[in-house]
Amino acid sequence: MTAVLKVTDLHVYFDTAAHVVRANNGVTLEVHEGESLGIMGESGCGKTVLFLSLLHLQQPGRIVKGSVVLDGRDITRLGESEMERIRGRVVALVPQNQATALNPAYTVRQQLEEALAIRRRGGALGRLVRSGPDVSTDTTEELRRVFEDLGFEAGPILERLLRSYPHQLSGGMRQRVLVAMALLMRPRLLIADEPTTALDRAIKAQSLAALKRVRGALTMLVISHDVEAISTTCDRVAIMYGGRVIESGPCADVLSQPRHPYSQLLLAAQRRTRGEPLATVAAETLNLIDFPRGCPFQPACPRTMPACATVTPSEYATDDAMVACHHYSRGGV
Ligand SMILES: Nc1ncnc2c1ncn2[C@@H]1O[C@H](COP(=O)(O)OP(=O)(O)O)[C@@H](O)[C@H]1O
Ligand SMILES: [Mg+2]
Repeated sequence: MTAVLKVTDLHVYFDTAAHVVRANNGVTLEVHEGESLGIMGESGCGKTVLFLSLLHLQQPGRIVKGSVVLDGRDITRLGESEMERIRGRVVALVPQNQATALNPAYTVRQQLEEALAIRRRGGALGRLVRSGPDVSTDTTEELRRVFEDLGFEAGPILERLLRSYPHQLSGGMRQRVLVAMALLMRPRLLIADEPTTALDRAIKAQSLAALKRVRGALTMLVISHDVEAISTTCDRVAIMYGGRVIESGPCADVLSQPRHPYSQLLLAAQRRTRGEPLATVAAETLNLIDFPRGCPFQPACPRTMPACATVTPSEYATDDAMVACHHYSRGGV
């Protein structure tokens, strides 16, 4: 399997006036061609810092250690002008604040045509499985095809949507336009950071349905604290705690039978609250400034043992899964 993105031991720190905040503490993960990887964890665990660091967008954050490799190229220390190209061409995002991501002065059709024009100028390296190669260069036809992928039949409703300005659309519709835009640009990797946060239930369902349809067509990284968003849109999931991936594997296994004590608590809390309000398990006990020795989850862990306080757990990996916990040091429990 080809890795589109490979992050190895990434450490990202912030220098504040009084302290150094260790927001990412050795993130390691891979996203393979055509797969959708979910990054899950409660607020403050370092998900957004990770995503912004991949694109060098977190200005005050410092990559202290580790590497980010995109399509075999190490982009960890690229200069700003080269990163600009990477950001525009290779990685598209569905931003958290979808209300402001579209330009209010242009119709949906104009914005989608612009996305298409960017790709045709050589902006995209990706390949869309469902729509296939560029058989037709006809713009209208391509727009129709992308919306068909998203569940819209060609007809008066689609025509009205294309003529609309962003403010005339519902939140769910704007999300789908953004997803359509991403599909038209065919990025190598689509990163969606909290795509469903701040959306009400009905809109969230529409938004997840759109992302679910994209699954398999694009390589995706979906960041969310919400188990429903992850299980609907992802093949594999990586659970983060304290700026590190502490467990990963196929969604079907990790979400139903988590192995790390933190994952177990997080998923149990999510089941109780059904994801809303945000389940908090151990965010307060973590200190990113005086970062603890040993396992960062040790102070809150119900299954702690002596080694946990002194030795940082290694990543114990099987074929398709990983857990960083001393309980699994001999493949056990
Ligand atoms: N600019 C910054 N300066 C200092 N600390 C920051 C900055 N941005 C984020 N952090 C800290 O890094 C940690 C991870 O934040 P973030 O990645 O936004 O979490 P989340 O998983 O909720 O997306 C948090 O403790 C946050 O306070
Ligand atoms: Mg975040």
